[in-house]
Amino acid sequence: MSETAPLTHLPADSAAPGTPFGALPTLFATALLAWYPRHRRDLPWRHTRDAYAIWLSEVILQQTRVAQGLPYYLDFLSAYPTVHDLAAAPEQEVLRHWQGLGYYSRARNMHHTAQQVVGEFDGVFPNTYAGLRLLRGVGPYTAAAIASFAFDEAVAVLDGNVFRVLARVFGLHSNIAAPSSRREFQALADRHLPPAHAADFNQAIMEFGALQCTPARPDCLFCPLQSQCWAFQHRQVGLLPVKSKAKAARQRYFHYFVLRHGEQLYLKARPAGDIWQGLYDFALAETETAELPAAELLRHVEALGGQLDATQAAEPRPPVALRHVLSHQKIEARFHAVELAAALPETTLRDLGLRAYSAAEIEQLPKPVLISNYLSANA
Ligand code: ADE
Ligand code: SF4
Repeated sequence: MSETAPLTHLPADSAAPGTPFGALPTLFATALLAWYPRHRRDLPWRHTRDAYAIWLSEVILQQTRVAQGLPYYLDFLSAYPTVHDLAAAPEQEVLRHWQGLGYYSRARNMHHTAQQVVGEFDGVFPNTYAGLRLLRGVGPYTAAAIASFAFDEAVAVLDGNVFRVLARVFGLHSNIAAPSSRREFQALADRHLPPAHAADFNQAIMEFGALQCTPARPDCLFCPLQSQCWAFQHRQVGLLPVKSKAKAARQRYFHYFVLRHGEQLYLKARPAGDIWQGLYDFALAETETAELPAAELLRHVEALGGQLDATQAAEPRPPVALRHVLSHQKIEARFHAVELAAALPETTLRDLGLRAYSAAEIEQLPKPVLISNYLSANA
């Protein structure tokens, strides 16, 4: 940044809305670009210009934080070094690599996108924002990230970090949860993005939000933006950004029948239209209450055509209770271990999609974390 010195007298938003500032970075951009090289974390996706690797990192980081996402990124890249490898992989294997990140439709979309890039674009990612938006599951954020990081296109990224930094520095009080605020924030970010430093500006503003201007405890006292920060000047840091409350999570009660015959357990793939599509769990009854009376448990097992082991028929084992919290749902699960005296009838297997698996096979199946947790503590 050799031109830094003469620019520091420029007001932060001296240009008319929607017009670029020309070659001169704004005070805001200048401060961010000076801060970034001194504070950035050394992360592997910051050393590549490969659109595929950048896309992988962004999909993972939309799902989780850097520390948790890093091993997934490295694992995915070593299992699938190119988009061709990912496209050719079986979906179940891709889901297995994703296991633990949650929100599995993202992994399925990602797999589908890889196939689209191979099938429609000859394995080469589109090199513009508009082209990238044609890919399934690639929204405005991901397209802007890939377009700027891999191809230097001058388009600003907007994620939670960016919303927060902009809301505070520029004193924007629009509700960031409302879709209509997006245009306002996008226009502001685009006006400040220096076209010659698109990639660094985008990394810098996200990193600044992640490390300096954090949600709960921003480090305002040692902040290079302090003198230009509206929220700091007006003592409103704790009030910005404005975000409407999410609606209450839905409570659900799952009763799992962990049906065992000899050394094998019965599992099924989850259907479309609910959480965990394509992941494996056990025969399931969803009810309105957490408890399931023993008589009802027996009725369920009978309805499956299952014959209880003699010892168990006399005295059913108490279920194992586990809770699992998703972003919009709370699941209270009871696992009822059931020893069967005989294999389940074919008709039940067909109707419910159940199949008997050995422990080694189950290890390879993609499963919701709730199911893995149960199995590792109880199987
Ligand atoms: N969060 C989302 N994208 C990121 C990136 N490229 N680096 C660090 N954190 C991120
Ligand atoms: Fe964020 Fe505080 Fe810096 Fe303003 S002064 S940008 S609120 S860290």
